[in-house]
Amino acid sequence: MALRRRALLLLLLLPMFRYRILAVELFSTDLNPVVQEFYRAELSCIITSTKTVNPRIEWKKIAGKDTSYVYFDHKMQGDWVDRAELHGRTSLVIHNVTRADKGIYRCEVAAPEDTHIGAEININLTVHVKPVAPKCRVPQSVPVGKSATLHCQEKEGFPEPTYKWYRNGETLPLDSKSSSKFQNSSFTMNTKTGTLVFSEVQKGDTGRYTCRATNAVGDAWCEEMEMEVYDLNIAGIVGGVMVVLAVLLLTTVGICCAYRKGLFVNNKQNGNSYKTPAKPDGVNYIRTDEEGDFRHKSSFVI
Ligand SMILES: *[C@@H]1O[C@H](CO)[C@@H](O)[C@H](O)[C@H]1NC(C)=O
Ligand SMILES: *[C@@H]1O[C@H](CO)[C@@H](O)[C@H](O)[C@H]1NC(C)=O
Ligand SMILES: *[C@@H]1O[C@H](CO)[C@@H](O)[C@H](O)[C@H]1NC(C)=O
Repeated sequence: MALRRRALLLLLLLPMFRYRILAVELFSTDLNPVVQEFYRAELSCIITSTKTVNPRIEWKKIAGKDTSYVYFDHKMQGDWVDRAELHGRTSLVIHNVTRADKGIYRCEVAAPEDTHIGAEININLTVHVKPVAPKCRVPQSVPVGKSATLHCQEKEGFPEPTYKWYRNGETLPLDSKSSSKFQNSSFTMNTKTGTLVFSEVQKGDTGRYTCRATNAVGDAWCEEMEMEVYDLNIAGIVGGVMVVLAVLLLTTVGICCAYRKGLFVNNKQNGNSYKTPAKPDGVNYIRTDEEGDFRHKSSFVI
């Protein structure tokens, strides 16, 4: 019974064994290579078995539906000519990887003398990019007791960076409540979004702030920026308003008096204008209630 079973198993395995020997087979030491930008990348593709003396080797870059040749017809294609070469017959080496090189690369081998003549392998290249200086937004001045949010964003780095805030060169905790040193502050830091949120700023929060973006391959800082916290002094404001009101009142009264006085002066002048002209000889003025000024020839009076 056991013997028959073993014989059957051998009978089943034999053709598979033969088939394996005759097929071209590929292997990669790394199907998901991760390389830092501006470094060398090796996309490993190794023929582990073939009967064919000179198998045909091709490399393609696959971006969605677009497929472009990297290596074809025994030579590098397009701009790959200066940037890449084959190593150890089939592996692809890119000398100076850029972020645009990330993606899927297919190593295809055709071996017409094998029973199974073709094989392919997909390699997913990931390119890590150092962060650049993040963009930071810090409010210049905030009144005591108000909320304030500081922003920090970096868009080049890959993987996406995380963020940390510093004040006067000192690391800030994720939550001010977690440190006795910052007990008078009220902020929380979000290392994913890069925000530093103060629910109520205090005088002691005045300082120079900066943020650092960090990922697997590097870090970068934004320029230090000053946040000033000023007192919103209620007594001072009330005093100021009262001074302004007082000035307004005085001015109004002043204008009013001047206006009234001015009218009076005007009347007087009008009156004078009838009386002051130097009395010409022989002319007299007599004022009567009914007729006003009345002119007489003085020569007749004397
Ligand atoms: C790599 O490529 C970048 C941009 O394409 C270039 O600035 C840099 O000098 C290159 N580095 C080397 C070592 O060739
Ligand atoms: C390639 O690798 C990246 C990063 O590991 C991953 O996000 C992406 O989905 C992979 N692409 C494919 C087609 O597997
Ligand atoms: C917090 O404020 C109190 C009172 O205003 C002060 O005595 C104390 O020194 C402050 N603590 C710190 C760490 O600045």
